[in-house]
Amino acid sequence: MTEFGESFTAHMVTSHWTAEGGWSPLRLEPHAPIPMPPTMVGLHYGQVVFEGLKAHRQIDGSLGLFRAPEHAARLSDSARRLSIPPLAEPMFLEAVHLLAAADQDALPHEPGLSLYLRPLLFASDPSLALRPARTYTFLLTAFVTGGFFADGPEPVPVWVSPHHTRAAPGGTGDVKFAGNYAPTYLAQEQARQAGCRQVVWLDSSERRWVEELGGMNIFFVRGTGPGAQVVTPPLGGTLLPGVTRDALLTLAARLGYQPREERVAVDEWQEECAAGTISETFASGTAAVVTPVGRVRYGDAEWKVGSGGAGPVTLALREALIAVQTGRMPSPEGWVRPVAPLPVG
Ligand SMILES: Cc1ncc(COP(=O)(O)O)c(C=O)c1O
Repeated sequence: MTEFGESFTAHMVTSHWTAEGGWSPLRLEPHAPIPMPPTMVGLHYGQVVFEGLKAHRQIDGSLGLFRAPEHAARLSDSARRLSIPPLAEPMFLEAVHLLAAADQDALPHEPGLSLYLRPLLFASDPSLALRPARTYTFLLTAFVTGGFFADGPEPVPVWVSPHHTRAAPGGTGDVKFAGNYAPTYLAQEQARQAGCRQVVWLDSSERRWVEELGGMNIFFVRGTGPGAQVVTPPLGGTLLPGVTRDALLTLAARLGYQPREERVAVDEWQEECAAGTISETFASGTAAVVTPVGRVRYGDAEWKVGSGGAGPVTLALREALIAVQTGRMPSPEGWVRPVAPLPVG
């Protein structure tokens, strides 16, 4: 398989917005380059937001979209924050169903693979004036993926950035704004040079509270066994309200664990790993699914989480998430929506 997000399916879905006409009817088209004015607002001033959601093969061979309305709602929140006209939920759902249906044969009947859908909204008119654009484009593309970390549930080492932060109060950290991502590449490269796979972001005010990873939320497991606490930082406007994060809080309660939304400081993380109070840490996201964190580096300090391997609570939650996504375990109402085959003709 090619690298994550590098080999796309045959089609894309488009719509264009103008003040007079609103969003135009969706069009299913061949996946192809798009014409673009050199002075396009989105390119110069970054008026661009996106989403990422998946369709999974169900046990009966059909395709099911995971929590599409939640992704529609988050795209609308992101759009409003960036002064982009939001796409109404019915139109978002129609688009993702249309593309998933058209390209469902691209997804092999192989466990672990899924169809990743990438909705994008951007300012498309030619203007260098510093004001919201007058026209916008919606683009939906897709690719087949086995997960962000190609080697699945292998534990990853992570690196806490001492220099940079990802988001600040009042900023855009809680929406999927394109500009949140490129500034993280520098720290990601520093993490790689330190032998780690991902950056852990601390809060920008005190540089103490663990917020999330580059494209994933973070969870800590306190204690062990059935009553273990499954802890994730609360949504305070600076971290992305992950759809997977939300699903895992629900599934943790279902599995008999104690879900908690509580801040964890980086020094507490280190001390509690040494004391064995924090027994596991994992990352969560549409792309990352549930990925164990085995080791942490922060400045000169380095510590192991639990045994350094994938812990039992992490694996139980990962298994439960994949089971509901693929229809092997009943999920709360509306979490998995069947993709109907395209009408013939
Ligand atoms: C910064 C960031 N945090 C967390 C997540 C996880 O969110 P979700 O579970 O909705 O994919 C993502 C991915 O969308 C992300 O980009």
